[in-house]
Amino acid sequence: MSKPVILTGDRTTGPLHLGHYAGSLKNRLRYQETHEQFILLADSQALTDNIGQIGKVKDSVLEVAMDYLAVGIDPQKTTICLQSHLPALAELSMLYLNFVSVGRLQRNPTVKEEIRARGFDKSIPAGFLCYPAAQAADITGFKATVVPVGEDQVPMIEQTNEIIRKVNSIADRDLLKEVEAIVPKAGRLPGVDGVSKMSKSAGNSVNLSANPAEISSAVKAMYTDPNHLRVDDPGQVEGNVVFTYLDAFHDDVEEVEDLKCQYRRGGLGDVKLKSLLDLTLQNLLEPIRERRSEFEQRPDDVRDMVREGTRKALNRTEQTKSELFEGLGFFRL
Ligand code: TRP
Repeated sequence: MSKPVILTGDRTTGPLHLGHYAGSLKNRLRYQETHEQFILLADSQALTDNIGQIGKVKDSVLEVAMDYLAVGIDPQKTTICLQSHLPALAELSMLYLNFVSVGRLQRNPTVKEEIRARGFDKSIPAGFLCYPAAQAADITGFKATVVPVGEDQVPMIEQTNEIIRKVNSIADRDLLKEVEAIVPKAGRLPGVDGVSKMSKSAGNSVNLSANPAEISSAVKAMYTDPNHLRVDDPGQVEGNVVFTYLDAFHDDVEEVEDLKCQYRRGGLGDVKLKSLLDLTLQNLLEPIRERRSEFEQRPDDVRDMVREGTRKALNRTEQTKSELFEGLGFFRL
């Protein structure tokens, strides 16, 4: 039996941070043992909302690839590949645009929210509006059946399945299998400010490559409970970012539960709590940072690894494209 195919990807707009680690990287480490896993360096998608910053997108490709390697993604088990060098994905995107209406794209809740957040309301880049069709091309191009995504990306998978159903109905057989989204239970990690989700653009992130001083100052600045003024005051755990991070990153679940009880009762100070989180994050990020610095010494090897993964992905996606063009009854030369 062949393993089920998993596709994940990240827009290459900057180095990965703790939010990526909690949300997807940890799972990818597990999936590479059980699935045939592809990770897409989504540089073309990154351009849909960063066309003025091509240099940033370009520079992020190897940065993100190094982040993957540093956390333990193994190129022997996982294929890391570069979206812009997989022409079949662009060709499938064009095909799929015929299966979606502009109105449907505009109603996609993720697109809607991103348009608002980026101030695109007045003039939406067409490529951006259409990125759900491109994402459907990514997913089906690899014949992925399982797609782990954050909650915010679920509408993309719904739209992918709508496109798949239309393709199958025109071909009058199941050319493509519908895909399943896997959404992490914990939801997305808040940023250190506790105001919004962790993201580079919000300036509230801690990069995987953060040095010890950067980690400590992020923890010091972290949002806790504004009404917890004295150590003896009862404190609130819900919405307290330090506890959210301990839940996400501290292995000893019981210890965290005990601390929550103490904090609620009163008698546990923020300084002590933060020093535990500081230690937890230092221990988590130190080996990642060290491995990353080794890869930073040999960028050519990292580039070769991406090239090799992209070659493999090229075979796979060209094959899917041929099957689809034939299955849909295109003219053959
Ligand atoms: N949309 C994802 C993001 O914003 C990146 C992405 C591109 C992706 N293609 C994908 C995710 C295919 C899952 C499957 O980061």
